[in-house]
This record gives sequence, C-alpha cells and structure tokens, in this order.
Amino acid sequence: MFKNFICLEGIDGSGKSTQIAALENLFKSKGFEILRVREPGGTEISEAVRQILLDPAHKGKMSDITELLLYNAARSQLLHEVIRPALEKGVIVLADRFAYSTLAYQGYGRGLSIDMIKNLLNISCGDCFPGKTFILDIPVSLSRERQANDGTRKGKDRIEQEKNDFFERVRKGYQTIAREMENCFLLNAAASPDDIFKLLASHFDS
Ligand code: ADP
Ligand code: TYD
Repeated sequence: MFKNFICLEGIDGSGKSTQIAALENLFKSKGFEILRVREPGGTEISEAVRQILLDPAHKGKMSDITELLLYNAARSQLLHEVIRPALEKGVIVLADRFAYSTLAYQGYGRGLSIDMIKNLLNISCGDCFPGKTFILDIPVSLSRERQANDGTRKGKDRIEQEKNDFFERVRKGYQTIAREMENCFLLNAAASPDDIFKLLASHFDS
C-alpha cells in the first residue's frame, strides 16, 4: 500500500475526471509532483488492450474471463511501466479507476467470483494498492443523464452499452466494497462538484 497513491472510483459518468482535475490543482498548488493515470490505458500496451476491451464490435463475443484478464493485463503493464516507478520516487499518483473497478464491474456486475478476482488482483497489483480510494456514488439514471449531456463523449463503448440492471449491480457492488474494504470512502456524487470536492479535500487537511 502506498500513501501517495489515491484512486477515484464510480460508475461511468459519476464525476471521477472532474474531481481528479480539482484534486490535481489542489496538490499542485501545494507544490507536489502529480501523475494522473486512467484505466484501462496509460502505456502503449495498455492502450492497445483498452481498444480491444471497449470496442463495441466485440459486444456479445468477449467472454467474462477474457475481459477480466485483459483489464488486469492492462493494469499490470501500467503498474510496471508508470505507476510503481512514480510511487517509488514519491510522486502523488491520482488514478481514475484501479483494482476496485474490476471487483465492481467483473465481480458484482458480471457475477464472477469475488475471491477469484481478489486472488488475481494479488498477481496483477502485488503490494501496489492505493492508500485511499474514494467511490463516487450516484444513481444510474443520473449517471446516464450526465453522460447524455456530456458533449465530449462520442458514442457508447462496449461497457457503456450494457443495460441499466448491469450498472445497478455495479453501483451496489461499489457500496459493498466501500463497507468492506479498508481506506475506502463512499461520497454522495449527486451533490454539486464543489460540495463533492469539499468532502474529498477534507481527507487531505493537515
Ligand atoms: P467520469 O470521469 O466519472 O466519467 P466526468 O467527470 O467526465 O465523469 O463527468 C461526466 C459529466 O458530468 C461531465 O459532463 C461533467 O461535466 C458532469 N459532472 C461531473 N460532476 C458533476 C456534478 N457533481 N454535478 C453535475 N454534473 C457533473
Ligand atoms: P472509461 O471511459 O475510461 O471510464 P468512464 O466512462 O468512467 O470515464 O471506460 C472504462 C470502462 O471500463 C468503464 O465502463 C469501466 C470499465 N472497467 C471495467 O469493467 N473493469 C476494470 O477493471 C476497469 C479498470 C474498467
């Protein structure tokens, strides 16, 4: 576990990128060196895996286990090339998604065994775990609304094309993860960006 590793989680459109940008400004204003990453992706290999994972052409074809392994392949490469070297230099790493996305989406969403995924995460992540994870909790209907109104999004990727009941399971999964995992905090992401950020920033007062 690394104290300088901070992760934001939540269903698609919950506001992770918005809050990470604000956190980045906060830490930069205090003079810290920041590295921002988003999963899957962040290295040549991981971005190539991202293309495979999110391509709508693979809808209905990719098996749940293939999906599980590819997310973890992308993650392992990102850790090896980018995250671990930065953490070891003392850089603050802000991650838009990490291992709990796999527990929420492939575990609670797809219904794969949580214990099996935890074992796999030990392989793909080793001791490289965030010191704090914040889960942005938002109703699925509101996340859909935000995505529909977000002019920067071009079409729906393979995962975003899943039905609402999949995202309901993912959301409930995240709520369970927040209750069960250490150093994991659930935030009400239906609030305004400023109110969410106040809560988030209060975890770093000192
Ligand atoms: P994510 O990274 O989780 O997909 P984004 O930060 O990209 O989410 O936000 C998705 C959309 O919702 C964007 O258009 C963003 O401006 C908007 N948004 C983000 N946070 C809020 C909020 N707290 N209230 C209303 N709209 C928000
Ligand atoms: P992305 O566009 O980066 O996320 P967002 O829509 O929240 O901005 O898409 C990544 C997708 O991959 C997203 O739908 C969540 C999913 N995902 C998993 O299913 N498992 C994982 O382990 C990770 C990291 C992501």
